Amino acid sequence: MNINFDLDYKPHLGSKTDYGIGFIGTGGIVQYAHIPAYRKAGFNIVACYDLNPETARTVAAEHDIPTAYESLDDLLADPKVEIVDIAVPPWTQLEIVKKVAAAGKHMLCQKPLSDTFSEAVEIVEIGRKAGVKQAINQQMRWDAGIRASKNLIAQGIIGQPTDAQLNVSVATPWHMWPCLAAVPRLEILFHSIHYLDAMRFLFGDPDWVTSRHARYAGQGKVKGETKTITVLDYDNGLQILVATNHYNEWADPYATFRFIGTEGAIDGTVGLLYNYPTGRPDTMEVTSAQFGKGIKITPTLEEMWIPDAFVGTMAGLMRAIETDSDPEDNSTVDNLNTLRVANAAYISAAENRSVRPQEVQ
Ligand SMILES: NC(=O)c1ccc[n+]([C@@H]2O[C@H](COP(=O)([O-])OP(=O)(O)OC[C@H]3O[C@@H](n4cnc5c(N)ncnc54)[C@H](O)[C@@H]3O)[C@@H](O)[C@H]2O)c1
Repeated sequence: MNINFDLDYKPHLGSKTDYGIGFIGTGGIVQYAHIPAYRKAGFNIVACYDLNPETARTVAAEHDIPTAYESLDDLLADPKVEIVDIAVPPWTQLEIVKKVAAAGKHMLCQKPLSDTFSEAVEIVEIGRKAGVKQAINQQMRWDAGIRASKNLIAQGIIGQPTDAQLNVSVATPWHMWPCLAAVPRLEILFHSIHYLDAMRFLFGDPDWVTSRHARYAGQGKVKGETKTITVLDYDNGLQILVATNHYNEWADPYATFRFIGTEGAIDGTVGLLYNYPTGRPDTMEVTSAQFGKGIKITPTLEEMWIPDAFVGTMAGLMRAIETDSDPEDNSTVDNLNTLRVANAAYISAAENRSVRPQEVQ
């Protein structure tokens, strides 16, 4: 059956998209996600800096970035750099944010904002006091399947949401992030934080968080939890399950989402997770009382989490600068509530109890 939805899932660009972008940190994620995304969108990358000058020089040469700076201060002193795109491990982000704010530059912070909640609050406060625009690169909100679902839910296609599940069982290439091997809080803070944020984006803030965490017998030097199950309860009866297993070394991988409401359901897959970071487009099947019983609609989703969703986060910041407003979907202020849910999950797992996100202060 051919029903045309107005899915509107692609990132919205403002009228000004030539702000000069300077990278701080030019590691893996900048090379395989940020740069391809910004090139595709026609954004203006003007400079980069990395703690390792050789990395910055090589990345600049390989990707036609005009200037590779040897010091952070030099990059921040460059008037062509109007937006600083931070892509470093979270425990170094606060010190960088202080300098970026002092230089009066707008910034796209990396997720997670910090590995401690109090530092994340400090980062947001520094941005606010400096009067610069500060956004977060928590980009699953722009993943095609998630954004299309947001749109369908807003159109009432599934009625009142009652049950949501995001189930991921994959073999994650942890070797891509050597700096994460030693972190004590791994899966939720660095990975499932995307899913928790996407659930908040779709359904709002949960009233209760209940989470269980485990390690895999063969995970070797990887220290933190690598298998988690988190339940978000809402006082209106909505229940959400986010279940993630990174050590599925035998069975077929899956990364599925299912959102069921009183009037319909959305079933889909998160394409990126089927072969990270190459991936494939998301898929989606929609049923609704609006179409009639037994009718299933399967819209084609063209865009990919990597690189396209990375256009969304930067475009969100650019539109905030242009219109002198808060970033619509990725303000750091809002992201503190995602961090509250993530931190509540750790408290829940450690103390064997359900936790209200507001407990995290
Ligand atoms: N948004 C996402 O979906 C996503 C995906 C992967 C990684 N990440 C995050 O991005 C960050 C970087 O990840 P990665 O995979 O690129 O790691 P990486 O190890 O490949 O690269 C990190 C780079 O940062 C540089 N660096 C470290 N400290 C620095 C400092 N103080 N100043 C300047 N440069 C510094 C390192 O030299 C390195 O080149 C991490 O915080 C990670 O959580 C986000």
